[in-house]
Formats: sequence, C-alpha cells, structure tokens
Amino acid sequence: MRRAHSGPRASAVATLADLRPTRWQGWFVAGQGQLVAAKLVTSRLVLTPLALADAPDMAEVLSDPVLYTHTGGSPPTLEELTSRYRRQLDGPWPDGQVWLNWVVRLPSEEAIGYVQATVTEQGADLAWVISTDHQRQGYASEATRGVAEWLGRHSIDRLTAHVAPGHTGSERVATHVGMKPSGNFDDDGEQIWRVHPAPSVRG
Ligand SMILES: CC(C)(COP(=O)(O)OP(=O)(O)OC[C@H]1O[C@@H](n2cnc3c(N)ncnc32)[C@H](O)[C@@H]1OP(=O)(O)O)[C@@H](O)C(=O)NCCC(=O)NCCS
Repeated sequence: MRRAHSGPRASAVATLADLRPTRWQGWFVAGQGQLVAAKLVTSRLVLTPLALADAPDMAEVLSDPVLYTHTGGSPPTLEELTSRYRRQLDGPWPDGQVWLNWVVRLPSEEAIGYVQATVTEQGADLAWVISTDHQRQGYASEATRGVAEWLGRHSIDRLTAHVAPGHTGSERVATHVGMKPSGNFDDDGEQIWRVHPAPSVRG
C-alpha cells in the first residue's frame, strides 16, 4: 500500500454533523458545502477527524519501525508529524481532491491508528494503519468498514486501496471491506484493490 501520510493523499477536517448528500459534485456535496470527516462510532471503536492536537498521540502510534515494513518510510518525529498534519489540514489540496483522515480510538480515547481517504470524483482511495500493540484484533477491518460505510452514505461507493504484494494483513483488511485485487499495479508495484459499490458495515 502506498506509504501512508507521506504526501498530500488524505487528511481530515473539522467535525460536522453528519451530511446527507444528494449527489457528489467534485469537492462538494450538492447543497451541503464541502465534504468533511465526521466522528464515526463502530461497535468497538471511535473514529475522530484528525486535528493538529492529535500529533503527539499519533507520533507514539506511528513510532514502531515495523509499521513501515511493507510501505517504506520511517517513524516521523513529532515535529515532522505536526508539520505533515498542518499541511494536510490546511491544504491546499490538489485540484479535485478532498482529503479525509480519521484517528482510530478505543472507547478509552486511546489512539491506536488511522484511516485515510483521498476522495475524488472517481471514488475514494483508502489507507489504514493500526499500532503494533493493537494489531490482529480486527480493528483495521472494523475501522475501515466504518469509513467505507460513511463514504457510501455520501454516495462515494467506488473504493480502492494500493496493497503491496505479500502484505497479507492489508490484503485481509481490503477483503473485509469487500475489495478484490484488480490485477492492475501502480508505479510502486502495489496492486490496486477495488470495490464498487461499497459494502454495508457489519460492525
Ligand atoms: C495492515 C494492518 C493495518 C492490519 O491491522 P490489523 O488491525 O491487525 O488488521 P485486522 O485485525 O483487521 O486483521 C484483518 C485480518 O488480517 C490478518 N492479519 C493482520 N495482520 C496480519 C499479518 N501481519 N500477517 C498475516 N495476517 C494478518 C488478521 O489475522 C485478520 O485475519 P482474518 O481475515 O482471518 O480476520 C496493520 O498490520 C498495520 O498497520 N500495518 C502497518 C501499516 C501498513 O502497512 N498499513 C497499510 C498501508 S497504509
């Protein structure tokens, strides 16, 4: 999967009441203003829209070098992450894109990862990370399904992810979101997984 948070792929914005879009219009949801990430609650998790204040917690979440085995990169310093989040929150984003980014939290509010979505008129490209200590408990699948369902409620039901061959954990997460390997690979050699339409969330 593409290296998460390495560039202007996705971000988050303020929490707003859940939008009820009528149809997707580029950066905007008809009559409702710009699409923004909303707080999401799944059966075991709370997903909060990224804020600059999340940087210290997320620097800890992203601190294990093992997290970068399949994606490349290395743990960001707090300064790097703060700068990255500021860019992601403030933009400017590339034309035709909306960046949405959620911090994945336990009910205790402990941050354990993130899900990001780069939204265009073609759909949403998703990425996910769960901290090493919390992996293999179904959290990435649950959080990503929550985001997929929310996107689907906003008429964004063409979903993709870029998964490195052999990255079994991410392949399984993609599968749990209903994605299948497309047989197409990006310039980094990662396979594009896709689903259309988005599945319904199963908690
Ligand atoms: C990929 C990642 C997000 C998976 O997170 P997770 O919370 O452990 O995923 P889940 O618990 O939802 O696991 C989904 C499935 O994958 C399996 N799985 C998870 N990690 C695995 C691993 N390292 N090897 C084999 N299977 C794995 C789980 O057992 C589960 O199996 P199931 O399909 O039988 O239910 C996590 O390993 C991670 O953050 N890795 C580093 C960052 C990364 O590469 N992110 C993707 C690119 S942005």
